[in-house]
Amino acid sequence: MLHALVVEDDENALGAMAELVADEGFVVETATSVRAARSRLLVQTPDVLLLDLILPDGTGFDLIQDLQGKTDRMEVVVITGHASMATAIDALRHGASDYLTKPVDVARLKRMLGNLARSRELRPRLSELRRRARELGRFGALVGSSPAMEQVYELVSRVAPSSASVLVTGESGTGKELVAETLHQLSRRAGSPYLVINCGALSPALIESELFGHERGSFTGADRIHRGYFERANGGTLFLDEISEMPLDLQAKLLRVLEAGAVTRVGGEKSVEIDVRIIAASNRDLDARVAEGKFRGDLLYRLKVFPIDLPPLHARAEDIPALAHHFLRELNRSEGTEKSLSTAALAILQRCPWPGNVRELKNVVHRAFILAEEEIGPSSLAPELSGRLPQAGQTGSPTTPTELTTLAEAERRLILATLAHFGGDRRKAAQALGVSLRTLYNRLREYGPE
Ligand SMILES: Nc1ncnc2c1ncn2[C@@H]1O[C@H](COP(=O)(O)OP(=O)(O)OP(=O)(O)O)[C@@H](O)[C@H]1O
Ligand SMILES: [Mg+2]
Repeated sequence: MLHALVVEDDENALGAMAELVADEGFVVETATSVRAARSRLLVQTPDVLLLDLILPDGTGFDLIQDLQGKTDRMEVVVITGHASMATAIDALRHGASDYLTKPVDVARLKRMLGNLARSRELRPRLSELRRRARELGRFGALVGSSPAMEQVYELVSRVAPSSASVLVTGESGTGKELVAETLHQLSRRAGSPYLVINCGALSPALIESELFGHERGSFTGADRIHRGYFERANGGTLFLDEISEMPLDLQAKLLRVLEAGAVTRVGGEKSVEIDVRIIAASNRDLDARVAEGKFRGDLLYRLKVFPIDLPPLHARAEDIPALAHHFLRELNRSEGTEKSLSTAALAILQRCPWPGNVRELKNVVHRAFILAEEEIGPSSLAPELSGRLPQAGQTGSPTTPTELTTLAEAERRLILATLAHFGGDRRKAAQALGVSLRTLYNRLREYGPE
């Protein structure tokens, strides 16, 4: 049976809430102060902690602080006055799963309790995925094992089960959309709709009714009720791509929807309650847009509850072999071929600066795949990459042209660097390099004992 601890200083509110939670099948404990809650928590770690933020002898934050490291096993829901949205957002940043505003909406609390049970089931799956990510160098559909990507996986698994808004930033082609999809897949909303809106691609005239819907007759041509993205995504996730491109007047409306948890259709009177998780993405500097007056600071603040910044590919060149092999494997699978990637070609890929990031790498591999007969060698890459390699002497690449003497030498360095990257694990190194274990052994024998 699931245990809940309700912490609230107003005895009436506490009684009502405890009863409600018990009705949902929880074993309920209560506390009316930070001190009382602390001693309760010493005795037992509840599955759910419902926490009023303002208490007579301190704040709910003091308790959240104590819980560092324990929130993995416990869902924390903070309860706050509507005026202190900022505190709720702060709590989400510090590991709370969700928040409720006062007066507590009973239907919302019930739905949340139901969801929390599901979030709890997700946690072990997420730790398993994290463990496998360390082993296999990929997390769900995301490939890469660089420290920078490990950090991304950590953030994704921390925030996915909660209902916090996430803002994904990073240069074009770094995988923002893939991260958004992964967040949805790993959330309790996975079975519900996931809708994508490209805010830069919608016509300003239509964007409002596309987002919020419209009532019949609300404008010429509106001959029937139209349910907008928010209503259609109910229970699921809405991905607002290129959020920086949203017109200012609409940003104000979006903010209102996020704060109220309800939409009003264009030309409509009554509002429709919605439960939608927002993931936004931008490859532009939103703080700069705010400074220019092109983006609302209060909306940014609201969206940025949990920011995830994706590193550019040149900052994680060690992920290039795994990514290139991953894309090649996909192509081989869909085309029924068995083409391979030569070590020399891989060495070239690792030296490129990749301004278009992973998307560019994917495209280059695809075109080289088409050109190559059986093995993708430097010649199949040449038409793609001519003029794209860094100038001699430029740093930041594992092997720079000035240092290169022969192809054999480039291969030797790549093999040794890959081996070092995998901590001497020959099986993993061979896999990343796309060669057999035997080939790797042969090369290493040639290189001698050092
Ligand atoms: N870590 C990764 N592992 C595997 N594939 C990836 C990874 N990152 C990106 N990709 C692939 O690269 C391509 C570009 O990624 P995505 O569309 O997510 O980029 P983006 O950051 O949204 O770019 P933009 O700002 O231009 O919209 C997609 O095909 C995606 O599947
Ligand atoms: Mg994108």
